[in-house]
Amino acid sequence: MEKKNIDWSSIGFGYMPTDYRYVSNFKDGKWDEGTLSTDPNIVLNECAGVLQYSQSVFEGLKAYTTEDGHIVTFRPDLNAERIAASAARLEMPVFPKDRFIDAVNQVVKANAAWVPPYGSGATLYLRPYMFGSNAVIGVKPADEYQFRILTTPVGPYFKGGAKPITIRVSDFDRAAPCGTGNIKAGLNYAMSLHAIVDAHKQGFDENMYLDPKTRTKVEETGGANFIFVTKDGKVVTPKSDSILPSITRRSLIYVAKEYLGLEAEEREIYFDEVKDFAECGLCGTAAVISPVGKINDHGKEICFPSGMEKMGPVIQKLYDTLTGIQMGRIEAPEGWIHVI
Ligand code: PLP
Ligand code: COI
Repeated sequence: MEKKNIDWSSIGFGYMPTDYRYVSNFKDGKWDEGTLSTDPNIVLNECAGVLQYSQSVFEGLKAYTTEDGHIVTFRPDLNAERIAASAARLEMPVFPKDRFIDAVNQVVKANAAWVPPYGSGATLYLRPYMFGSNAVIGVKPADEYQFRILTTPVGPYFKGGAKPITIRVSDFDRAAPCGTGNIKAGLNYAMSLHAIVDAHKQGFDENMYLDPKTRTKVEETGGANFIFVTKDGKVVTPKSDSILPSITRRSLIYVAKEYLGLEAEEREIYFDEVKDFAECGLCGTAAVISPVGKINDHGKEICFPSGMEKMGPVIQKLYDTLTGIQMGRIEAPEGWIHVI
């Protein structure tokens, strides 16, 4: 199969329409059989639930070309489970897990020419999403929904690639206590837009959000979870009810323990502890693992010992192992890699 003529190594994290997207509609209490469409546009009623009351949830996963030339996805079953949890929280119907995985397979296969080659530094990003599509004017859930998966080739989420970034402690919250921070709802990202635009204006790459109730504990950033390494080489990551349960983070905890023989723990992390950590990184599908070099807390700086030029040694090992598994260079745990 002929790949598209794209300079893969120069693309950033942006949207580029590909040939096909998957579409399925929910009406009269059931999902239709679903189809692949060549049309990137959606026509909606002016009063659609998603437009009026932001009834929308989404996912993010990637398709990779492995060293031996297969196209694979990474743990799509966990994305299926998480979008089901997100949908349930917003009173939306669940798109069944087997159908989710089938839809991922179909849309990746149809867009195989858009899956960046091995070693190019780019991947095909998949964005499954679901939204209320019929008219609602009183505040209530829609009766009709659309589930879609769009795909787009992407490069690094942060411009510098694997270069450490600088973040700041945000004065805004992205989620409320007992709110929707633990699901992947579009509304959480709307909440974070002003904070990210302001962070960029002030010269920072991202925001560190603290827990909205006490503002003493580390939560996550707008689009990734945190991972820290303590001075004695232990991997720690925040535990909170108001952060997204990252699939990358869950995978890294396993990799740290089972592949690297490190201690790894999910626990509450107080912001006051952060200055004593040896390494800091962001983890997520888009972010992969992006090292953090510096955290600015209202003018006071925390600078990690690894500096602003390269990843710290433990984060580098986690990065190499995780991406090695995803690209087929390192044997994966049972069930992690789905060959398309
Ligand atoms: N936290 C937020 C707010 C995110 O948007 C994402 C991205 O999906 C993550 C964490 C990382 O989750 P995952 O590793 O499942 O991509
Ligand atoms: C992802 O990593 O898949 C996300 O959805 C995060 C977003 C900031 C692009």
